[in-house]
Amino acid sequence: MGCIMDSGKGEIINNVLSDSRYIKGSAKISSMMCAPLKIKDRVIGAICVISAKSLNYTAEDLKILSALALQSAAAIENARLYDSLKDTFLTAVYTLAETIEQRDPYTGGHTKRVTQYSLAIGGELGLSGEDLERLKFAAILHDVGKIGIKDNILQKDSDLTREEFNLIKKHTVYGQKVLKHVKYFKDIIPGVLHHHERFDGKGYPDGLRGEEIDIIARIIAVADSYDAMTTDRPYRKGICHEVAIEELKRCSGSQWDGDVVEAFLKIDVLKALE
Ligand SMILES: [Fe+2]
Repeated sequence: MGCIMDSGKGEIINNVLSDSRYIKGSAKISSMMCAPLKIKDRVIGAICVISAKSLNYTAEDLKILSALALQSAAAIENARLYDSLKDTFLTAVYTLAETIEQRDPYTGGHTKRVTQYSLAIGGELGLSGEDLERLKFAAILHDVGKIGIKDNILQKDSDLTREEFNLIKKHTVYGQKVLKHVKYFKDIIPGVLHHHERFDGKGYPDGLRGEEIDIIARIIAVADSYDAMTTDRPYRKGICHEVAIEELKRCSGSQWDGDVVEAFLKIDVLKALE
C-alpha cells in the first residue's frame, strides 16, 4: 500500500506472491487492487481490495474502485473541514461569551464552569450526543443576552431594586433575540431562553413548569445556580460547597428538577472543572 501512497496511482497485483514488493510472512494475500484516496494532488490514504484466493482483477474493477475512492476521499475531507469549521465556530462562540462576561468582573470564569458542570450532569443523565452538543452551546451562551443590560445595573454592587431586577430578567429574552438569527442556534434557544424557569412554574420569562422546560435549560439552571451560590458577587460572599448542596437538595423538585439535582450530586465537582 505504501507504493500506492507514493505514486498516487491505482494498481492491480493479481499475483502478489511473485511481486518483489511482497513481504514474506505478512498476511496471506494472493491478489489485490488498490486505489488512492486523493484530495486534489494529496494522497491521504488508499482503499485496497484483497483476496486470499488468486483472482483476476480487471482494469474495469479498478475503475469502479477508483470511483469509490474518489467519493470516499471527498467525504473524508468534508468531515475534516466540518470538524475544523465547528472548532472555529466554538472558539468564536466562547470568545463572544467571555467578552460579555468581562463586563462583569465578579463573574470571571462563570461561563466556563457552568458549561463544565452542565456537561458533567448531561453525561450523568445519559444525554445523547446531539443533546450534549446543544447543551454545550446553550451553556456557553446562556447569559449572552446580558449584552442588552446596562453596565450600571450589571455591575451594581448593592441590592437591585425591583425595577432593576425586572430589567436583568430580560437577558433571557435578549439572548433569544441575539441567537434567533443564526440557524445553527435554533435548537439551543430553549436552553438560553428558559435557564431561569423553575420546575414548579414560578420562574421566568414564561413560567413554564416541569418537563415543559427543555432538559438542557433544567440542567443549566442547576449548574448556573450552584456556581452563582459558590462564587463571590459584589453584593454578597459565596457560600461553601456543602451549604450549596444542601440548598440544591432543599429546593429539589420545586426550584430545580429533582432528577437533575440528583445527577449533580453524583458528579465530582472538582473533576468536572479539570
Ligand atoms: Fe442568566
